[in-house]
Amino acid sequence: MSESALFEPYTLRSLTIPNRVWMAPMCQYSAEVFGPNAGVAQDWHFAHYAARAVGGAGLILVEATAVSPEGRISPADLGIWNDTQVEALRRITAFLKEHGTVPGIQIAHAGRKAATERPWRGRGPAGASEAWQPVAPSAVPFDEAHPTPDELTVEQIQEIVGRFGEAARRALAAGFEVVEVHGAHGYLVHEFLSPHSNHRTDAYGGSFENRVRFALEVVDAVRAVWPEDRPVFFRVSATDWLSENADDAREGWTADETVRLARELRAHGVDLLDVSTGGLAPGTAIPTGPGYQVPFASRVREETGLPTAAVGLITDAGQAEKIVAGGEADAVLLGRELLRDPHWPHRAAATLGADKRVPDQYAWAV
Ligand code: FNR
Repeated sequence: MSESALFEPYTLRSLTIPNRVWMAPMCQYSAEVFGPNAGVAQDWHFAHYAARAVGGAGLILVEATAVSPEGRISPADLGIWNDTQVEALRRITAFLKEHGTVPGIQIAHAGRKAATERPWRGRGPAGASEAWQPVAPSAVPFDEAHPTPDELTVEQIQEIVGRFGEAARRALAAGFEVVEVHGAHGYLVHEFLSPHSNHRTDAYGGSFENRVRFALEVVDAVRAVWPEDRPVFFRVSATDWLSENADDAREGWTADETVRLARELRAHGVDLLDVSTGGLAPGTAIPTGPGYQVPFASRVREETGLPTAAVGLITDAGQAEKIVAGGEADAVLLGRELLRDPHWPHRAAATLGADKRVPDQYAWAV
């Protein structure tokens, strides 16, 4: 047995994840846009996720996958609103499991940040032939480049809650063992949480209790269909980097509110908080640097007892080991570093003197 905390298995409910090096959800914007295969995972997605499983990630969170067509960030996002999409995802989950990697999926609705262009084609709205009218808690655009969204009616809110439940049911059918609700980065769930984007005066806006209502209803809908023995994750932006910044007069979602929300989420059956930050408002000053979001994960874990995963500029084996061994988080999620090097987990295991899970096809040779 290795001395490395990073390579210790981790059990949540009845699910054991072989190590604490996990792949962060990362949109590939590579699905077909129109027709019967809209939102269906392609060979690209299979190769992309298969490579990180071969590389030794303990858990892979498949990218933000839309619960409805209007909930896509870009027209080329993955979707999980029909059974054709389920079939294609099943191929990915089967391969991951075969290689000892736990398959998870992030289910999402983009809210007012929907209908945007694939990032490599520019940051603006999607082209007119592909775009649609976004919806949000309030008719307030993200910035001048984004369209003004339609304000959701209570009936429409309920419909989207139902869509999250349906998406979780399909995720289960597709073979996923973890489902994560995307509550971060300025997308729909986060737009309800933050007073910056939520100006509603009904039961879904105003007080803390009202702003978190949608998030908790979504979690309840997911938990209602997700098996008792499998974990549910929630990704939060722990701060909008507005209220905490003395130079920014805008009011936003705060780290204190994240701690309060974490307690609520726990009571509603969430097993782990995936702690990111930002994405809600344009022009925020964010003090980025190695592991800059880790303190938010650490604070939630310490003050609420809810397990956390840390993410953001975690790139070094020693750094990752320290985060887990020091009890700052239960696991680390790697994003761009796993794009640069799918075999990062094996390299980290070698550095830390832990056992590697290199597949036989490579292990005998290298
Ligand atoms: C992301 N990120 C992201 N986050 C999320 O919650 N859902 C998503 O689908 C995506 N998509 C996405 C695509 C790409 C190409 C990148 C680079 C990032 C954010 C990602 O999960 C992670 O939080 C950040 O990248 C920070 O971690 P790293 O990259 O510093 O390890």
